Order: sequence, then structure tokens, then C-alpha cells
Amino acid sequence: MVRTPRLVQGVQFAIFRRRAMHKWIERHGRIFEINVPIFGRSVVVSDPALAKSVCTTSTEQLVNIQPNLNNLFGPGSVFGFDGPRHRDRRRLLTPAFHGQNLENYAKIIEDETVREIANWPEDKEFRTLEPMNRITLNVILRTIFGSARTECNELDELRAIIPPFMKLAQVMAFVPAPPSWTRRYSPWRKLDQFRNAFDRIVDTLIDRAYADPGLGERSDVLASLLRSGCEDGTEMSRRDLCDELLTLVCAGHETTAAVLAWAFERLRRNPDVLAELVGELDEGGSDFRRATIFEVLRVCSVVDVIGRRVTAPTFDLGTWRIPRDRTVFVRIADLHENPEVFPHPQRFDPSRFRDTKPAAPAWLAFGGGTRRCIGADFTVAEIDIVLRTVLRNFAIRTDGAADEKSYFRGVAHIPKRGGRIAVNRRSQLTEKRPSCRPS
Ligand code: HEM
Repeated sequence: MVRTPRLVQGVQFAIFRRRAMHKWIERHGRIFEINVPIFGRSVVVSDPALAKSVCTTSTEQLVNIQPNLNNLFGPGSVFGFDGPRHRDRRRLLTPAFHGQNLENYAKIIEDETVREIANWPEDKEFRTLEPMNRITLNVILRTIFGSARTECNELDELRAIIPPFMKLAQVMAFVPAPPSWTRRYSPWRKLDQFRNAFDRIVDTLIDRAYADPGLGERSDVLASLLRSGCEDGTEMSRRDLCDELLTLVCAGHETTAAVLAWAFERLRRNPDVLAELVGELDEGGSDFRRATIFEVLRVCSVVDVIGRRVTAPTFDLGTWRIPRDRTVFVRIADLHENPEVFPHPQRFDPSRFRDTKPAAPAWLAFGGGTRRCIGADFTVAEIDIVLRTVLRNFAIRTDGAADEKSYFRGVAHIPKRGGRIAVNRRSQLTEKRPSCRPS
């Protein structure tokens, strides 16, 4: 058990987590206990077999960590459900981000990337995080609400209110919500104002979707949710629908943008990888690009930890017996840096995944088991299309710049200087367009 005072451990866990974890793992091994404000006494694991046990235990015995992201998205968000309700909600949401639907979203992703990069400056260093954020926000809005970007004022309104909400929300994500009478005098007031605006706009979009005679043919997420609810009688209440749409919009873009910014940060410093990627692209291939995406997700764990709360009387984890109400953290970043699984873990080496797909529990970028990320395939497809579109149009300059440090925004870890690169436009190339396929 880590023995420093609770507050000190809290600061280490919240702000200096990576360094603290390295120290604690060295001292206590890959399972130990910390005691931190908000989460209390918590067991931290980074051993693959123990991580698997946590991820695959039923959501009745291990519920989602308290507090969790439904703090922000509302009680109707999948993040707040456990047990059968959680299973049913996942069954409803998952198809929208798989199979044929992914093919349908490919054009949106490519269009948004081409539009965003049209005016990228040449010979001048710039941050990629913000352009990537604009691409991923536009993509997720169009994927969910299904409108051509020029046609819909409501999407413009959402585009304006979501970035400031995300900025504040990430900081507040795991802070317990105060009683309603104090909300007026706290940052929650701003979150409540945002929420009212979001619901007003989304109500209009839902009404319009219900009235759309072409709803049956639409391929967006909202249409798919409305249709499946009507078909099998599991229609969501309007409140749940708004909570869930907010969940998907927010969970579905900043994390992906952070991974893309990290990808550019890594490519700038790895000329051999970049050259192989460009060579493969020009030949019409995509396997090494996939491997590169998996390696970026390993080496730059954007989401570095997941958590659960024990609700069974006890939960047996390896040789540990953990009592009810304790928190259990799985440290994704430390699984990804385990030298027994990934030799020379600090090295950025996509060839690790050249012939093998990364597998849970050693590689857990999207979590695993009962709460595995619903958007995982969608995200990999999106990163793939954005990267190939950028590399087709621009040559990225490489140099020996120092690695960017990681900065923790509250949910996601981003490159501290925004993933800076300098580019030059490539001369026209023969068009060879690989299609979007699930990972
Ligand atoms: C690089 C991008 C992303 C990363 C790194 C990421 C990571 C994760 C992780 C680690 C979890 C598991 C949380 C847990 O076990 O408690 C998760 C869950 C989830 N993700 Fe993602 N995610 C990404 C993109 C997306 C996208 C694009 C969407 C939606 C379109 C999405 C929607 C969700 C949802 C709804 C859950 C909750 C699942 C549940 O509680 O059953 N994520 N994500």
C-alpha cells in the first residue's frame, strides 16, 4: 500500500500520474493500493491477467467508477448504466458504429479532411491539434445527425457551443456534482447553460428526423437509433436520447483528435516510418498505416486509465480480496509500457503490429470486455482516412526536435505543444483510394 498522505497521493495521481505510477510499480509491483480524494481506497492494476479479470467481470459486480462521465452527459448516458440496462443500451448503440455504417461514414471523413487541410500553410510550423479537432467534431456531428454540412444551422450552433463545453467539462468530469441549490454559484452553472442549449438544438433535430419521410433510408446514428427503437419497442425517452447523443458527440471527437495530433508528433521525429508510410500509400497499400495507428495508440495512451467500483460483497483479483465500495483502476498506459510484452516500450515502432493486430489485455487503448469502447472501429477508420488524406497531399518535414511532453486535459492526454509540424504540398499524384474497412 502506498503510504504517503492521502492528499499528496491525490496530487500525484491527478497531476503527476505517470511519474508516480512508475515509482509505485517499481516499489509495489503491478497491483497495489492507493488512497486518494474522491475515489478513496483504490486498487491499481497493470498486470495483463488482472486487467482482463477487471474488464470481463459482469457490470453487476463491478459497476462503472463513481463519479463517472454521466456526471456530464446525464443519467441516460451509457456511461451511467450497469447490469442489464447497460447491456441493452450497448446493443442499441453498437450497430451504428460498425459494418456497412462505417463504409457510409468514409466519405464524410474524407470530405471534412480535404476541406480543413485546403489552406494549410507551407514552410511554417503549426499545431495540428486544433485542425484535427475541427475535423473530428465535424465528422461526428455529421455522422450522428446526418446532414450535409452546408444545409443545417443547428449543426453550426452545435459546432459553436461544443468546444467551450468540452474545455470546461474535461476539468469537471470526475468532480462530484454539488447539490442543485449551489449549482447557480459554481462552474456547473455554465455546464447547465450549455446543456439547455444543446437540448434545445437537438430537440429540433429529433423532431425533424421523426418528420422526415426518408428516415428509413438515412444512414446517420440518430436515424438508426430512432428506427431500431420503433422496430423492437425499446424506444428511448427524449431525455435519454439527448443524454446519449451528447455522450457520442463528446466521447467521439476530442480523443480521436488527440491521437491524430500525437501521430503527427511521432511522424515528424521518425523519418523511416514516415517514408515507409508514404511509399505504401503511393502503392495503394494500407497495412503499415494500420500498424502505425495501433502503435500511436499504444505509445501515447490518450485515455490512460479506466475505473470500476466493487458492488459485490467482495471481488477476488489474483490473490487479493477487495471489499465492496473500493475502486479498482486499470492503468492502460502501464500495460502499454510493459517491457515483457512490448520490448523497448518507449521506442515508436509500428513494425510491432506489422503482422499481428494488437490484442487485449496487453493492449487496451479502447478498454476491453463489458465496457469496450463503442467507437473503436469507427475511430481507427477515421484516423486511417485522415492520415492517408494528409499524406497524399502533404510532405511532412522531419527533424530532431525534442519529443513533445504529454499534457493531461482531465480525460485525454494531448501533446503539450499541440503536435506541431511543418509541411509542403506534394505534386499531384495518381489517385489510388483504398476503402474504409473496420479494423
Ligand atoms: C481515440 C479515440 C478513443 C479512445 C482512446 C477511446 C477510449 C475508450 C475507452 C478506454 C473506453 C472504456 C472505458 C471503460 O472501460 O470504462 C471507452 C468507452 C466508450 N467510448 Fe471510446 N474512445 C475513443 C473514441 C470513441 C468514439 C469515436 C466514440 C463514439 C462515437 C466513443 C464512445 C465510447 C462510449 C459510448 C464508451 C462507453 C462504453 C460503455 O460504458 O459501455 N469512443 N472509450
